[in-house]
Amino acid sequence: MAGKSKILIVGGTGYIGKFVVEASAKARHPTHVLVRDSTLSDPAKAPIIDNFKSLGVNFVSGDLYDHESLVKAIKEVDVVISSVGHALLADQDKIISAIKQAGNVKRFFPSEFGNDVDRVHAVEPAKSAFAVKAEIRRAVEAAGIPYTYVSSNFFAGYFLPNLAQPGASTPPTDKVVILGDGNPKAIFDKEDDIATYTIRAVDDPRTLNKILYIKPPGNIYSFNDLVALWEKKIGKTLEKIYVPEEQVLKNIQEAPIPLNVILSISHSVFVKGDHTNFDIEPSFGVEATELYPDVKYTTVDEFLNRFV
Ligand SMILES: NC(=O)c1ccc[n+]([C@@H]2O[C@H](COP(=O)([O-])OP(=O)(O)OC[C@H]3O[C@@H](n4cnc5c(N)ncnc54)[C@H](OP(=O)(O)O)[C@@H]3O)[C@@H](O)[C@H]2O)c1
Repeated sequence: MAGKSKILIVGGTGYIGKFVVEASAKARHPTHVLVRDSTLSDPAKAPIIDNFKSLGVNFVSGDLYDHESLVKAIKEVDVVISSVGHALLADQDKIISAIKQAGNVKRFFPSEFGNDVDRVHAVEPAKSAFAVKAEIRRAVEAAGIPYTYVSSNFFAGYFLPNLAQPGASTPPTDKVVILGDGNPKAIFDKEDDIATYTIRAVDDPRTLNKILYIKPPGNIYSFNDLVALWEKKIGKTLEKIYVPEEQVLKNIQEAPIPLNVILSISHSVFVKGDHTNFDIEPSFGVEATELYPDVKYTTVDEFLNRFV
């Protein structure tokens, strides 16, 4: 294992975190997961914990809100990856403080895994959520902590099983609602691929102090392209209901939580085109499939086959 950084994942038992932990262990990085004692004994988390055990993951007892436990856990590793969820994003300043005190971390990945939050045109409530991630970026930079920000765009498992139709549990078979004109390009990446690329970046000098964009060519689709692909698979033409931007904005304001969050993120991506409306400049970013062409990612086309 010489040369492989030791990695601590904070939030490793969460939705995306569990994929990151698995990718880290499978890539033979000594892999540590910060877990609360209550999580270790939670029956709902047992499948994840058992999988981690089978992968040889090291469990480190701790809590984001227990500074000493964080410092102790961080001192044992080289790299810290945070995959904490929405509610804890702002409190990642506690990880930053602990990394500063520990003094040994050569790379920090704050919890991002979505849009590039410095290049978004979102309305509330997504706007504030993105701003929190941007503030954490600024705090990491101000502290002089070496970093990589993973901009993984949409989780395929969140958006493709219902073709981005909030509330639906299967893809549409007769009509589909399309926000805006359906032309801006969005990106849908499978969770285990996101994790694989993230772990590849850990010891890569090319990703140091950069945004790692996960933009596989086979996963870039406008809503119209996505619907056309789905129609081809099911051999049927769907009725398309286009919602103009003004109506989307009104719907966001009137929607309850968390639908307003989902709709405002969808507005940023499907109407404003925030996954693809800028160029990746070498000064701030690198693209994962260019850096790691050997990784065989799952395309949107392949992903959708399971629902046919
Ligand atoms: N691009 C997309 O489509 C997309 C979709 C969803 C999320 N995201 C982003 O992905 C990132 C992770 O979100 P997620 O939904 O995967 O997170 P999540 O499932 O909510 O996971 C949260 C993790 O934090 C842990 N945690 C909670 N309280 C803690 C504490 N006090 N101390 C230590 N750990 C604690 C949880 O542990 P327990 O297991 O014990 O609860 C869990 O492991 C976020 O940045 C989010 O914005 C992106």
